[in-house]
Amino acid sequence: MAITSIMAADKVKEKFNEDESKVPAYTLPDPLVFPSGKKVDTAEKWTTQRRPELLKIFEEEVYGRTPATRLEGIRAVVTEGPADALDGRATRKQVTIYFTSKDDGPRLDLLIYSPKNKKGAAAFLGYNFIGNQATIADPAVKLAHGWTQNREKQGMTNNRANEESRGTESTRWCIDQIIDRGYAIATACYGDVDPDFDDGFQNGVEPLFYKPGQTKPGPDEWGSIGAWAWGLSRALDYMETDDDIDAKRVAVLGHSRLGKTALWAGAQDERFAMVISNNSGCGGAALSKRWFGETVNRINNHFPHWFCDNFNKYNNNEAAMPVDSHELVALIAPRPVYIASAENDKWADPYGEYLSAVHADPVYRLLGTNGLGVDPVSDKVPALNSPLLSGQIGYHYRSGDHDVLPYDWEQFLAFADRHLKK
Ligand code: GCU
Repeated sequence: MAITSIMAADKVKEKFNEDESKVPAYTLPDPLVFPSGKKVDTAEKWTTQRRPELLKIFEEEVYGRTPATRLEGIRAVVTEGPADALDGRATRKQVTIYFTSKDDGPRLDLLIYSPKNKKGAAAFLGYNFIGNQATIADPAVKLAHGWTQNREKQGMTNNRANEESRGTESTRWCIDQIIDRGYAIATACYGDVDPDFDDGFQNGVEPLFYKPGQTKPGPDEWGSIGAWAWGLSRALDYMETDDDIDAKRVAVLGHSRLGKTALWAGAQDERFAMVISNNSGCGGAALSKRWFGETVNRINNHFPHWFCDNFNKYNNNEAAMPVDSHELVALIAPRPVYIASAENDKWADPYGEYLSAVHADPVYRLLGTNGLGVDPVSDKVPALNSPLLSGQIGYHYRSGDHDVLPYDWEQFLAFADRHLKK
């Protein structure tokens, strides 16, 4: 099946391409060339000139600018714990980050497990889709207080968490293994920061930043991905105050739309020591100009709240994009980044995700790292289930579906062992 029409339920009918031979000719912007045509030939030029220039384009044309204002009244309160968990192998804490001085305003519930009797552990931080209670079968974990994705199998049909959902996404989190390997893990429901539907930006954190009279973000101001990324930085602010965690060794990660979010959070906030993107696809690690799987037009029409309004300029017009995802990955350099793809996840364009790593490699090398860790770097996608773990950029292409599997975690942990262990 070469060209497939997308599901009938989709608002926008469009053909999408999943045939490599139908990928159009495209030209990628060179991250190491200034608009003037001059080469970016030193690490200093990258860091002080080119990186800020690229970051600004992503801010103004793709995800929208994140407000720099510090919210008055923002505060973190440990609402449960520290308590023993995982048969005494871990310490559990639940922390609420209130975004305003009001207790019933927008707030983020962060669930943290850290290895018992260990101070300053390296940590993973990532959002979940349906509430902290789903990431582990631990009855002490609070149910999500706000909007969650639905899971019909668990009777979640009204965008609210329920008891039945406890532990149902635990294979996506592997908290036992994470703790046994000596890492802490922090997670929160992304809906706490901004419910994931198009309501004209009335709920979630965006209105907290509106200027008098403003009712929605401007064309170059953030959408939901930007808001979610901001929330990850606020979680990191808290982690900086928690002795059980070494906030200088935090890997931010996410799956799918939350993988896009993790990349954008890591690109903007250089305090994140590592970034992991799992099956992040269009608007994440996959190159948009390849026009393979999900397209810019489709994502903007189907999820009009994710990116900034300016991104619509590139609907069916990817060739005009001044940046592509290899430059998003390059913004993370020289920090370690891991990109994970899955064979059956054609929608997310696994090869396009790999090519982002390939074309970010020269930036990583300019900054004195070994990039993808292989010489020469091949533009052929690595063999199935043969992770590239030796570079500053890690990658794997595993068999199976769009998901986070224990296999993925094995690689994330191995990559973290190389880069985050003291
Ligand atoms: C949809 C969307 C993707 C996204 C995915 C997810 O498939 O088109 O861009 O990554 O949802 O977040 O699950």
